[in-house]
Amino acid sequence: MRLTGKIAVITGSGSGIGRATALRFASEGAHVIVNDINQKHGEETVEEIKQNGGNASFFLGDVTKPDDVQALTQFVMEKHGKIDILFNNAGISNVGRVDEVEPDVWDKVMNVNVKGVYLPSKYIVPHMMEQKSGCIINMSSCAAEIGLLRRALYSATKGAVLALTKAMQVDYAPYNIRVNAILPGTIFTPFVENYLKSAYDDPTEAIAGIKKRQLSGDLGKPEDVANAALFLASDEASFMMGSPLYIDGGATFGKNA
Ligand SMILES: NC(=O)c1ccc[n+]([C@@H]2O[C@H](COP(=O)([O-])OP(=O)(O)OC[C@H]3O[C@@H](n4cnc5c(N)ncnc54)[C@H](O)[C@@H]3O)[C@@H](O)[C@H]2O)c1
Repeated sequence: MRLTGKIAVITGSGSGIGRATALRFASEGAHVIVNDINQKHGEETVEEIKQNGGNASFFLGDVTKPDDVQALTQFVMEKHGKIDILFNNAGISNVGRVDEVEPDVWDKVMNVNVKGVYLPSKYIVPHMMEQKSGCIINMSSCAAEIGLLRRALYSATKGAVLALTKAMQVDYAPYNIRVNAILPGTIFTPFVENYLKSAYDDPTEAIAGIKKRQLSGDLGKPEDVANAALFLASDEASFMMGSPLYIDGGATFGKNA
C-alpha cells in the first residue's frame, strides 16, 4: 500500500492509461478523483475501483476550461482538504504533417494537450505550495524526443509538456513539490485504436510499423504506464525531480536495424 491516505487527481481517467492508473493508485490505498469529459466512462472507472474495494469519486470537467478546473479543485479541497498527487494525463491524438493540419485542429490539440496540463497545475499547485508537499506527473510522450512520421502537432504538444515539466520543477522544488513527466511509446488504448482507424488506409500495416519501431516487438499495455506513474507518485521516487521517465519498449533509445 504505497499511497495510503493520499488524495490523487487523475485527468482523463475514464479510459486507457488514466483508467489503469486510477485503478492502480486506488489498489495502493489512494482516494482517486477520476476526472473526464466522458461521464459514462468516468463513472465506470469509479465503479470498477469500488468493486475492487478502493475509494474514488468522479468529477465531470473539461481540462481546457478554467471554470471546470477551478470547480474540480474546489470539490477536492472541500471534500478532502488536500491534494497530494496530480496526474495531468488527459490528451488527444493527431496524425498529420504540418501542411496537413488545419489551424482549428492545431488550436484544439494544443488546448487539450498543453493548456490541459497548465490549468489543473495552475489551480492545484497553490494548495500543494501551502501544504509544502505534492507530486505532479505530466503526460508527455516519446514523440517529444524522436521524430515520428506525420506526428507534427502531437509531437509539438508533448515537447511543450516536457519543457513545462522541467520549468515547473525548478519553480516548485522549494515547496517540496516534485514534477516529473512520463514518456510512453505506443500503448494499446482506445486513443491508438481510433487514430489507426481514422488516419490510415490500412491500420493493420500501420500497427505492424509501430510494433517494429519498439524493441519489445509489441505495443505496451496501459498497466505498464500505470506502474510507472505509481512509482513517480510514491515516496520511492523522492529523488526524481524534473525528469522524463520513458516507458516505451525501447522506441526512444533503441533502433531496430
Ligand atoms: N496510448 C498511447 O500510445 C500514448 C502514448 C504516449 C502518450 N499518450 C498520452 O497518454 C494520455 C492518455 O492517453 P490514452 O491512450 O489513455 O487515451 P484515451 O483516449 O484512452 O483516454 C484519454 C481520456 O482523456 C479524456 N479527455 C479528452 N479530452 C479531455 C478534456 N478536455 N478534459 C478531460 N478529459 C479529457 C477522454 O475522454 C479519455 O477518457 C494522453 O495524454 C496521450 O497523449 C498515449
